[in-house]
Amino acid sequence: MCTACEDLVDPKQIKLDEIITKYRNENGPLIPVLQHAQEVYGYLPTDVLKHISKSLRIPLARIYGVVTFYAQFRLVPSGRNVINVCLGTACHVRGGAKVLETIEKALKIKDGATTEDRRFTLEVVACIGACGLAPVISINNEVHGRLLPESIAKILAKYE
Ligand code: FES
Repeated sequence: MCTACEDLVDPKQIKLDEIITKYRNENGPLIPVLQHAQEVYGYLPTDVLKHISKSLRIPLARIYGVVTFYAQFRLVPSGRNVINVCLGTACHVRGGAKVLETIEKALKIKDGATTEDRRFTLEVVACIGACGLAPVISINNEVHGRLLPESIAKILAKYE
């Protein structure tokens, strides 16, 4: 392929087509294709869903039904900083719900939402493997443990 042609090729599109080819002939290809597409794009843009619909010959309305049913799928890009609030057993027992409530109030968003300025996306997750530090949140995979609701504002302020 010529250098100029390579410039025109979208690597994400190539990856998406590889994913579709891999799962096309499997039973129930839609969910894994959507999961991988979201890994590639960070969310599921409309054009990507249309392409998947066409390639797998699945009506777009059915794909939207699946995407909106499962909380794991995202139709809009996430914020610059992704906060995961753990509500696994250890964190729940040690005040995880209060931590979540404090963050929701501070950012004026609920689980699964992104702030208007796209600074933060908030997600509730199950155990993130740091139970000894419960209650725990992670921001961009950086773990903050033994949280007290009053320490949250200071932590959030570190993330632009
Ligand atoms: S339960 Fe929260 S880190 Fe394990």
